[in-house]
Amino acid sequence: MTPHTRRAALAAALALSASLAHAADDPIKVGFMLPYSGTYAALGTAIENGFKLYVDEQGGKLGGREVAYYKVDDESNPAKAPENASRLIKRDQVDVLVGTVHSGVAMALTKAAKDADTTLLVTNAGADAITGPMCGLGVFRTSFSNWQPAYAMGPVAAKKGHKTAVTITWKYAAGDEAVAGFREGFEKSGGKVVKDLSLPFPNVEFQPLLTEIAALKPDMVFTFFAGGGAVKFVQDYAAAGLNKSIPLYGSGFLTDGTLQAQGPSAQGLLTTLHYADGLDTPRDNAFRAAYGKAHPNMAPDVYAVQGYDAAQLLQVGLAAVNGDVSRKAAMRQAMRGAAIDSPRGRFTLSKAGNPVQDIYLRQVDGLQNKAIEVAARQLADPARGCRL
Ligand code: BEZ
Repeated sequence: MTPHTRRAALAAALALSASLAHAADDPIKVGFMLPYSGTYAALGTAIENGFKLYVDEQGGKLGGREVAYYKVDDESNPAKAPENASRLIKRDQVDVLVGTVHSGVAMALTKAAKDADTTLLVTNAGADAITGPMCGLGVFRTSFSNWQPAYAMGPVAAKKGHKTAVTITWKYAAGDEAVAGFREGFEKSGGKVVKDLSLPFPNVEFQPLLTEIAALKPDMVFTFFAGGGAVKFVQDYAAAGLNKSIPLYGSGFLTDGTLQAQGPSAQGLLTTLHYADGLDTPRDNAFRAAYGKAHPNMAPDVYAVQGYDAAQLLQVGLAAVNGDVSRKAAMRQAMRGAAIDSPRGRFTLSKAGNPVQDIYLRQVDGLQNKAIEVAARQLADPARGCRL
């Protein structure tokens, strides 16, 4: 090496180490792609609140680095999802994507994240494909697959003696997959789904379908609705008098974060979900106290827990690489092997990146979805089509 090339190499090394030192001082860029408007607006807010609560509990840092937030309102609109994802990935150059609620939007977000090799933490959307055919080493979910809570309801309903069921939901991935999961669990246990009813997302003109249910007279109804649509559905079901003759069951989104608005119409409803009120564990009690302090007018719900746990999972990954997000493989490996001490109870991730978790049977009592029992212990999504 000549003195000239040695000097040039030294200068390059100094410049590189200066830029690395600078990068280590920079905040981690977290991009929230969530709904802040429309029927799922409250769900997006709760996820963000939960995520930030955990970060605040760590003194505002993850993996030893400050956190900077970037936000896009995805409006639960799949048609706008590629452009919204690109805003965070290309314009804001985020290190990690966090989102979203709607399954259709989440599938587009997953594709964008995989194309850009940006780590994605799915904080609600249950689209089975995300941890099925679309699974990837950089794709993680801290919520559920649509199959999980719905499948768990099947044996519960059959054990209550119900032989026939009608399903009703929005016609999109979340509704279709929840219904398919329920059918699988119910028919395996001896029941029969006699009719599937649906309407387009996010319509709430339930009346004609409720009239059809009354005419069909099944033993029970299984449903998937969430957010503002769930509030209206439960109210309309009771107003039509159906709650007196045909018991209504659902994935727990039907009554999570909605009880204040649903009022008496929700009382006594049975649902299955990976979170419940009244778990009364030290971990959950601490979470609920902290959430209540930070957001005095909001009940801690499943969405807040999923956001909180996404930050916990990211912390595991960032701690493993001392905050160096460029070490993606090591960070992701640590995340895949994590055991999360969640307010819902401990969970691990499957190979496909989906929580292996308890599903609770809950009953609405006042403003609470009270845990009655564990309907399915450490239930793993079948991850059909994932080739990891
Ligand atoms: C979904 O689209 O996957 C979804 C939306 C709200 C609650 C649960 C699932």
